Amino acid sequence: MKYQTLRPFPPHFLWGASTSAYQVEGAWNEDGKGPSVIDARTHYPEGTADYRAASDHYHRYREDVALFAEIGFKAYRFSIAWTRVIPDGDGEVNPAGLDYYRRLIDELLSRGIEPVVTLYHFDLPQALQARGGWANRATVDAFERYARIVFEAFGESIKYWLTINEQNMMILHGAALGTLDTQLENPRRDLYQQNHNMLVAQARVIDLLHQMHPAAKIGPAPNISLIYPASARPEDVMAAFNYNAIRNWLYLDMAVWGRYNSLVWRYLEERGWTPVFSPGDREVLESARPDFIAFNYYTSQTVEASRGDGQDEVARAGDQHMKSGEDGVHRGAGNPFLPKNAFGWEIDPVGFRNTLRALWDRYQLPLIVTENGLGAFDRLDDDGQVRDPYRIDYLRRHIEQLQLAITDGVAVFGYMPWSAIDLISTHQGCSKRYGFIYVNRDEFDLKDMRRIGKQSAGWYRQVIASNGLDF
Ligand code: BG6
Repeated sequence: MKYQTLRPFPPHFLWGASTSAYQVEGAWNEDGKGPSVIDARTHYPEGTADYRAASDHYHRYREDVALFAEIGFKAYRFSIAWTRVIPDGDGEVNPAGLDYYRRLIDELLSRGIEPVVTLYHFDLPQALQARGGWANRATVDAFERYARIVFEAFGESIKYWLTINEQNMMILHGAALGTLDTQLENPRRDLYQQNHNMLVAQARVIDLLHQMHPAAKIGPAPNISLIYPASARPEDVMAAFNYNAIRNWLYLDMAVWGRYNSLVWRYLEERGWTPVFSPGDREVLESARPDFIAFNYYTSQTVEASRGDGQDEVARAGDQHMKSGEDGVHRGAGNPFLPKNAFGWEIDPVGFRNTLRALWDRYQLPLIVTENGLGAFDRLDDDGQVRDPYRIDYLRRHIEQLQLAITDGVAVFGYMPWSAIDLISTHQGCSKRYGFIYVNRDEFDLKDMRRIGKQSAGWYRQVIASNGLDF
């Protein structure tokens, strides 16, 4: 659809950027923090000197927030590390952990930056994992208790909460993300039970926040990539329906409507993977209503019909944004119309608009984009500058499509690219950079971790200052 005039970004649009606790904080075992499943990793797939040191934001948050304010962020999305607040997940509360987030929140508010807080971003307490993790119903209770503690501590200061980051990616790509429990007996069946338990946990904390702080808002935060059929062949189109349901709609149909997507339920039944409901699950799933949908978008994905040759799963290897395929369901395909980034992820700004439209058509809930960005090998030049025109190009083209989606009538109230500052990628070290702010460390040398605003930071500042008129 073409328009003669574009709708402007709404007033008070939340321009900002995102991070997550374990990827940016460091200090993984300081001031009483307990280990998470990420800290307990024995193997970091692509090697890095010390992924747990991350970007040392824990010690430098004041300086970092000052830099965010210079860029003009209206909002900053970060996650609370469950293990800083409750080191073993369900035991004693660690006051130093709460104190750190109190200071961070105060710092943001004092600079007029709205905190957008994720309760859980991949870093389940290791002590809970040792007792079965999300397969154990006790983890659902522990999550609710943890949420109650942080809602009590910060509920008056925080307007926007996100429940669980990318639950769908943890279920489908936990191995790449480092969240997969390798002890599972029947991995897929167990994962869909974990998934169910997480959905219940999410529903409980949505209801809890609404009871405790009726003015605050909360939503789920999956990764949503619209799935395209590789051709107009009806079987390819059906494969796209299949994977859209399994990858995207399962998570949001439950969060928004409180019921399992019927196609996915049949898929689970067929394979013997249907989860067990505990007493009360159905009621809480039906009662919880999110206020908005937060979602992360990096690229679309393309699929063709399963060939049923036992190769669907392996046909397209890679990580969370490449690997896809399941016998009898779909087979991942490349999209010949799309360029790729340095890490093999396709780049599809129009797919961003398509995804926004699909979400709005389906759910009619306000949307906030909580991740979008380009991983790249940035370089600190001899003159002390970091020039990242490729990132500006990626973001500009996505912001253009965002404005077109707004013009289409989609209600979007914020855009928070990944990432505010360089951090550790889920499995590709710190040379895969995303930030507006460069952190002077590399894979095998922590150096001085000096902060340097990149070229993209100056550009984003203009975008924000003009409320999206100048990009
Ligand atoms: C999302 C996650 O999957 O994508 C982030 O929420 C992650 O935690 C980001 O860092 C980019 O992925 P990666 O693998 O490049 O770090």
